[in-house]
Amino acid sequence: MNTILVTGCSSGFGLETARYLLDRNWTVIATMRAPREGVLPRSDRLRILPLDIADADSIARAVDAAGPIDVLVNNAGVGLLNALEGVSMSMAREVFETNTLGTIAMTKAVLPQFRERRSGVVVNVTSSVTLRPPPLLSVYTASKAAVNAFTESLALELEQFGVRVRLVIPGRAPDTSFGDNARARMGMNIPEGHAELAAQVFARFQQSTEQVTRAQDVAEAVWRAATDPSCPMRLPAGADAVAEAEAAKRA
Ligand SMILES: NC(=O)c1ccc[n+]([C@@H]2O[C@H](COP(=O)([O-])OP(=O)(O)OC[C@H]3O[C@@H](n4cnc5c(N)ncnc54)[C@H](OP(=O)(O)O)[C@@H]3O)[C@@H](O)[C@H]2O)c1
Repeated sequence: MNTILVTGCSSGFGLETARYLLDRNWTVIATMRAPREGVLPRSDRLRILPLDIADADSIARAVDAAGPIDVLVNNAGVGLLNALEGVSMSMAREVFETNTLGTIAMTKAVLPQFRERRSGVVVNVTSSVTLRPPPLLSVYTASKAAVNAFTESLALELEQFGVRVRLVIPGRAPDTSFGDNARARMGMNIPEGHAELAAQVFARFQQSTEQVTRAQDVAEAVWRAATDPSCPMRLPAGADAVAEAEAAKRA
């Protein structure tokens, strides 16, 4: 097992996961909406392919061009932080189209080859906000919680074919472009009446003592989910995610 396709490799967790797997001598198909040379080290084992997971034709072209793979990592995702009244339905649809339906569509696209070969692993990257949902993230949390449920059901369905499906659940990673990307795409006009709660939430984010997740934590968790058949269904990645998972168990 040594060829892995990762979605959303232009930055953050996807980029670090691609690097980490290259360092472990895997063949990596790093996919990006707008491929850029130079973000990853040159390697004979690296291919960069264009892929927009919200576009069915783009998915079909990328999966066809990739050829046989052993592991699919559904990492690409978009954030959205706002009170629900400040979220338009087009923003909500965009979040679900990418985070939820994009993950489902990518998984569907690789399953025929996994089932025929009776092997393969799908790793879905969700978020620790699904463990104890915080305020102002209702739509984002729902989009990722749906992937948790999708993954857990699908894993049972695919066991008979020797195909594994696992969840990697990262905590908050302020070092990736996630927050900036979310703000750039979705804006952040906090609606009337929600300013006080928003100020509290932002203040909590600023607390420098808080544990956070590093991109490498996620790369390591993806590696474990991909290579260790005894890996649990839900693998928290990052010190804060591990703490959240423990707290959720006690609740
Ligand atoms: N950072 C956090 O705090 C955090 C915490 C928990 C979970 N997560 C999850 O972890 C994953 C990676 O996040 P990150 O922190 O690494 O953020 P990031 O740096 O913003 O990376 C997100 C990646 O997803 C890609 N993407 C977005 N929409 C796409 C689409 N339609 N098709 C293909 N690629 C698309 C982006 O590509 P472009 O460059 O083209 O936009 C980018 O490569 C996401 O699923 C996110 O929800 C993040």
